[in-house]
Amino acid sequence: MTPLLYTLPGHERFGKALAAELGAELAGLELHRFPDGETRIRILTEPWDRTAVVAWDLQPPDARFVPMALTVATLRDLGARHVGLVAPYLPYMRQDARFSEGEGVTARYFAALLGRSADWLVTVDPHLHRIASLDAIFDIPALAVTSAPVMARFIAENVERPLVVGPDVESERWVATVAAEIDAPHAVLAKTRLGDRAVRHGPAELGAWAGRTPVLVDDIASTGVTLESAARLLVGAGLAPPTCVVVHAVFAESAAERLGRAPIARLVTTDTIPHETNGICVAPAVARAVRTLLSP
Ligand code: R5P
Repeated sequence: MTPLLYTLPGHERFGKALAAELGAELAGLELHRFPDGETRIRILTEPWDRTAVVAWDLQPPDARFVPMALTVATLRDLGARHVGLVAPYLPYMRQDARFSEGEGVTARYFAALLGRSADWLVTVDPHLHRIASLDAIFDIPALAVTSAPVMARFIAENVERPLVVGPDVESERWVATVAAEIDAPHAVLAKTRLGDRAVRHGPAELGAWAGRTPVLVDDIASTGVTLESAARLLVGAGLAPPTCVVVHAVFAESAAERLGRAPIARLVTTDTIPHETNGICVAPAVARAVRTLLSP
């Protein structure tokens, strides 16, 4: 039977694209916010004995997690046979180790919370650096879709003679994959994080790439300081202002203004988080992964 796809009201764009790719029925869901901040869930499309896919934007994570978990619980209570979660951006993954004594490894705990809620999970390019794969932290089937092919296609179609640049070692995986897809050279910069809103880039030897157009590729733009600092370094080294291609448009605080002031030629993100910079659609790749998890 056709799966039902429930999505966060007011954020239906990605859900609609995914439903179309999957041939799923876009189902009705109502959230009511009480004055005290609690949420009431009302399912408008009967899920009894159906497979439900919940496509949910989890940014900002703390505010979005509870309504998502309550929606999944309501679908189960109303008799859904299976409930899968599509969270295109998987938050909390950067705290993947105990960096200081007493800290929680929140990547693991958040995965455990999601695993207690949904039957399976599909996400896009989770920030797994010190954790090898989603299987290491999820005890439900969990698939990570890579946006590298669609990002690579965007670069190939929009940038002449690209040099793909990673702003830090954590981006190396994406950068190397994207560059290999389009047979372009790549370079990775050295970054030190000084705090939540400050980074410093080390000197980089980029003279060999004069005449190439730099393309900064990163998984997340949060405060934007990483992209801003990397763009200034590239321009200071005599390269053209870079095009930035980013997977997850978190854009916390004043990131948009900060990046608007930076020497950046163009900034494009995928649609894992709704944002005005979205220009690369990952719904077809996500649908392929979801299909492998849907029960017959
Ligand atoms: C870091 O490891 C990530 O790949 C991103 O570079 C980082 O999260 C971006 O954060 P911000 O925009 O705050 O510098």
